[in-house]
Amino acid sequence: MRFYRPLPINKARDLNYRKILVSKTDTSGNILYVNDYFCEVAGYEVDEVLGRPHSILRHPDMPKAIFFLMWQNIKNGLNITAVVKNLAKTGEYYWVTTDFEFQRNREGDIESYIAFRRPANKKVVAAISDLYSRLIDIEKRHGVEASLVYLQGYLDEHHTDYHTFINNLINPKSMFEKLFQVMKKTFKHSNNDQYHEGYQKAV
Ligand SMILES: Cc1cc2nc3c(=O)[nH]c(=O)nc-3n(C[C@H](O)[C@H](O)[C@H](O)COP(=O)(O)O)c2cc1C
Repeated sequence: MRFYRPLPINKARDLNYRKILVSKTDTSGNILYVNDYFCEVAGYEVDEVLGRPHSILRHPDMPKAIFFLMWQNIKNGLNITAVVKNLAKTGEYYWVTTDFEFQRNREGDIESYIAFRRPANKKVVAAISDLYSRLIDIEKRHGVEASLVYLQGYLDEHHTDYHTFINNLINPKSMFEKLFQVMKKTFKHSNNDQYHEGYQKAV
């Protein structure tokens, strides 16, 4: 089945703050599992996304530098929180904050990645959008390395590192973040067939 990349339109999808979007990929980023809410928001049927690279959701407003950092961390088994603008099948966009978990084989090697997403709040989006536009501009003119150097300069200027910067933005102590942690835990303790049900119990 051929995949047609949607044409982005300047319209946001409404997200439910009490639901999480979950997907699981192999180590190359090919989709192995998505939960119902992921499909509802992205606008795809499960069959349309299984086996596809996760970049089918890539929005042109997302800097390459952020995905570079994402992969650099998760390949090493380290979580990274990333604020991501995604592209739905309708061409609409939706902002999410994403965390990662890892599944390993008996040898301890990573077998799959699981991404847990919650809607990014307006304050977070407002704070990150300008930075992302700047990074994209730099990427277009000078490439991704220059954008990574710029990002490091930006963090240095604010006397911080990427993880602290994002953590301060999302405010892990907020009620919403605490609820997200509960939903994530519930998901992890359910088996695949019960993912959605398990999540519903958490909220
Ligand atoms: C578990 C997991 C979840 C991901 N989720 C997203 C996502 O929601 N949106 C997205 O654009 N990329 C996501 N990615 C990153 C993509 O694999 C890809 O690196 C990114 O879309 C950039 O695409 P490109 O490398 O083709 O430019 C995810 C990767 C993994 C491993």
